[in-house]
Amino acid sequence: MTRTIGIVGAGAVARALAAALTRRGAPEFHLLVWARRLEAAAAVAQLAQSGQLVQGRASAAASIGELRHCDVILVAVSDAAIEAVGELLLSEFTTQEPGSLSFPQAILHTGGARTGEDALAALASLDTALGSLHPLVAVSGDAAPAPELFAGMPFAVEATTAEATALARDLVGAMGGFEVELPAAPSRSAAREQKTRYHALATMVATGVVTLVDQAAAAMASADPVERERFRRAYGELARSAARNVLRDRGASVLTGAIARGDDALVDRHLAALAGTPNEPLYRAVESAARRMLNEPTAETPDPS
Ligand SMILES: NC(=O)c1ccc[n+]([C@@H]2O[C@H](COP(=O)([O-])OP(=O)(O)OC[C@H]3O[C@@H](n4cnc5c(N)ncnc54)[C@H](OP(=O)(O)O)[C@@H]3O)[C@@H](O)[C@H]2O)c1
Repeated sequence: MTRTIGIVGAGAVARALAAALTRRGAPEFHLLVWARRLEAAAAVAQLAQSGQLVQGRASAAASIGELRHCDVILVAVSDAAIEAVGELLLSEFTTQEPGSLSFPQAILHTGGARTGEDALAALASLDTALGSLHPLVAVSGDAAPAPELFAGMPFAVEATTAEATALARDLVGAMGGFEVELPAAPSRSAAREQKTRYHALATMVATGVVTLVDQAAAAMASADPVERERFRRAYGELARSAARNVLRDRGASVLTGAIARGDDALVDRHLAALAGTPNEPLYRAVESAARRMLNEPTAETPDPS
């Protein structure tokens, strides 16, 4: 049976989900997109019809209440708006057909920092599971994202029922992604704290890479934008090679450079070269993280893949 998936939002993640759920080889889904501007929702649906997307069917909903008969709803709006969208869904669903017991099987938001039960608490009285499906991916604002954007990429999923968790995992599989399972939490409050910690660290990694590359390029280029772009490209490629090493091997063996080699004289020269600049504290923070990594016990850990 073809599943109908409601998407709320028309931003970067909503567009990427629409593209990935209609990619070649995915099961056939019907997408129903609602956003607070109808033309923005229509543009997301249009992606599916334009030949950019290759499977399924998509249309825009004029009212969020139309999503009530979807099998699952993905709420892909700004984190600060998830609660308000939960309240809007509750009010639309309960005023449109009061007394009806038919609701989506699950309503999942795409934010990384909060559980579904927490962020969508307004919907707790409905007979629908609440959860989250978070792509651990840096999604930029491409108007027409690649259908394969999520292929081979990690997602964190959780939901209030086992069926809804399985459904979220199915959607991840349909997009070609895989699940990064968070450790079992002993209580709801521990699960909430764990999600925020997981997301803080994701931000540290994604924002860290981008800002370190940008700061290094800016420092090399002074005020020349062409020069800055040249160095952004160069340090960006360096970041890509370092990330490749992280994925290829484990432990401190993937560290390269003066700190890893124990060349303290060179580290001192680096620090002298950066002294008094905004990059000095960044270098020192990276140095201390690298030294912690180098001092970790080297016991063999099993490969989780
Ligand atoms: N971008 C990423 O790398 C990434 C990765 C993983 C997860 N996420 C998560 O995915 C979610 C969406 O992120 P995004 O990057 O797609 O954000 P985005 O590009 O800024 O899009 C946000 C969307 O939310 C809508 N919105 C904002 N306030 C709203 C409200 N009160 N009612 C209804 N709609 C509202 C916006 O509508 P308008 O266009 O009308 O303003 C827009 O369609 C967030 O929870 C984010 O943490 C993002």
